[in-house]
Amino acid sequence: MTLWGGVFSEPSDEHLRKLNDSFPFDKRMFREDVTGSIAWANALARAGVLNGQEAESIVNGLAEVLKEFESDVFVAAPDDEDVHTAVERRLTEIIGEVGGKLHTGRSRNDQVATDFRKWVLAAITEVDQHLDSLVVTLVERADEQAETLMAGWTHVQPAQPITVGHWLMSFAWMLLRDRERLAEFGRRCAVSPLGNGALAGTPYPIDRLELALQLGFSAPTQNSLDGVSDRDFAAEFLFAASLVGTHLSRLAEDIILFSNPAFGYVTLADRYSTGSSLMPQKRNADPMELARGKAGRLIGNLTGLLTTLKGLPSTYNKDLQEDKEPVFDSFDTLVAILPAVTGVVRTMTVHADKLRDGLVPEMLSTDLADYLVKKGMPFRQAHHVAGRAVRLSREKGIGFDQLSLEELRSLSPLFAEDVAQSMSYDASVSSRNVTGGTSPESVRAQIAEVRRILSQ
Ligand code: ARG
Repeated sequence: MTLWGGVFSEPSDEHLRKLNDSFPFDKRMFREDVTGSIAWANALARAGVLNGQEAESIVNGLAEVLKEFESDVFVAAPDDEDVHTAVERRLTEIIGEVGGKLHTGRSRNDQVATDFRKWVLAAITEVDQHLDSLVVTLVERADEQAETLMAGWTHVQPAQPITVGHWLMSFAWMLLRDRERLAEFGRRCAVSPLGNGALAGTPYPIDRLELALQLGFSAPTQNSLDGVSDRDFAAEFLFAASLVGTHLSRLAEDIILFSNPAFGYVTLADRYSTGSSLMPQKRNADPMELARGKAGRLIGNLTGLLTTLKGLPSTYNKDLQEDKEPVFDSFDTLVAILPAVTGVVRTMTVHADKLRDGLVPEMLSTDLADYLVKKGMPFRQAHHVAGRAVRLSREKGIGFDQLSLEELRSLSPLFAEDVAQSMSYDASVSSRNVTGGTSPESVRAQIAEVRRILSQ
């Protein structure tokens, strides 16, 4: 028997059932559903709607149902439309007719919204733990590589020398922001829709604040029409997941390039590399390609849900059942990618010699301009002179750092012996010693700051 069959004269068509049933995927929320129902039964008892015996019997029965789910022996019935229906059906089988009192004053509309919020809150905690491991790993590797030089790029063109630690830390900061974002929307997610009924609120004198606190939420929602259909938390989860995916994808792209033998900057550990069935020499960065690729599906899940939500009329509409699968999928995706990316970062070998080979003297042309600035020349003019120095070295077919003092002086009389000191990669990097700069000292300051944040 369905939960709503009273008015109908024939059972649902099997095609409708297949389309309508969400049990195959929303059974993932069994724990949240049972806990929510236990809290609701207790709230009904506090409101005097159930007597103590009835509430106790319901609570004990629900504990049985939970055990069946946890030990994987729960048997779904053909009429189990969704997890809510399934739990209540089984409860009534176990404790008899009194089970039918549980749904008093409640609707699946406020029930599903409550369960789903609880599920997302647990998901946030788990994703956050994976992010924490990755940030910790990035910081460890950055500490070890705080002084290792590498070519910094803009437009994928050689730009200025930087340190490997600085590069690694840039991702630690992105992921820290992601963690902050999860925590922030987690606070918005932690309100309880239970007691909103189908749309208009419950007619029983339920203490919704008490109920919310019992369920681990911080407050009840304040408008029942909004409360049953607000899926901002799901969209925010999908956005946060998309941005994590975007950050991981960018890290992945760097590592894919850097592990290409043409660069040879890093080598992925064997256990994080894959080979080719055809080409014996191949060593592919598959985990990173998957991290990059899966960012697409994370973003797809977000745009899918937003598209579902955008045209919805007020309150609950069945379209909202489309909210769970993208959220589950984005969670599963992140939980699959994050540990693999962490493993890659933790185990990859960094080749300082190859990284150094990637530095080209022309990357010091900004430093040459800055040298002239220190001698009093306006930067615009200094930029021009340094540009002419690049051109001169190219015309002569020599390295930019091979120009003689005489040659430099032909471009500006401000050049003196001490110009040689400005023309080194180490000097270039060390000179960028401001907060957020690439000098080893600045990188160590960043590391200390991130460690301070992590310890809070
Ligand atoms: N399975 C439904 C969902 O996921 C539960 C709510 C059903 N409510 C209803 N009035 N049909 O949204």
